[in-house]
Amino acid sequence: MKSLVVYYSLTGKTRLVAEAIAEALNATLLEIEERRPIPFPFVYLSGGFAAFTNRGSKINPIDVDSKQYERIFVGSPVWASRPTPAINSFIYQTNFEGRSVIPFFTMGGDDSKKALANITAKIEKRQGKVAGSFAITSYKVSDGQIIARAKEAARTYSS
Ligand SMILES: Cc1cc2nc3c(=O)[nH]c(=O)nc-3n(C[C@H](O)[C@H](O)[C@H](O)COP(=O)(O)O)c2cc1C
Repeated sequence: MKSLVVYYSLTGKTRLVAEAIAEALNATLLEIEERRPIPFPFVYLSGGFAAFTNRGSKINPIDVDSKQYERIFVGSPVWASRPTPAINSFIYQTNFEGRSVIPFFTMGGDDSKKALANITAKIEKRQGKVAGSFAITSYKVSDGQIIARAKEAARTYSS
């Protein structure tokens, strides 16, 4: 199955997962970049607020046509129990009709339920079918362990 792994990452944890998934499934990797990233520590307040209120942010143009892919993994850190503004922007500008979508998160805590419900509603509103999901805790976990968990998750989706 032709797969695309789209992700946004501020501090690199979601990138580790996205890269491991793309490598394991031989998928195309697409990083969503903000035009004007909010620096620390301001991101906690204004980025968190923007995520909490389902805002998008200005992102760099995307040069991959997601229509070419049957399955799209969409990865984001959890911010304020929500997906990030950058990933919201990607979702808001995409029509997922006819495609399986697999959202995934990294997070400091261990509860992705609200973020997952939120992103699922947004994907379904844009005609996507959510065909799975996973979340990986990044707090006090080594990069190697994050990658190992990502590879484990990828096995579920290898066919
Ligand atoms: C603005 C902001 C808000 C966050 N909110 C949450 C949260 O609500 N729940 C949680 O578990 N982690 C939260 N985190 C932690 C991140 O989800 C976690 O560190 C994630 O793995 C970072 O991914 P990245 O390295 O790809 O940016 C937050 C981090 C930031 C910067």
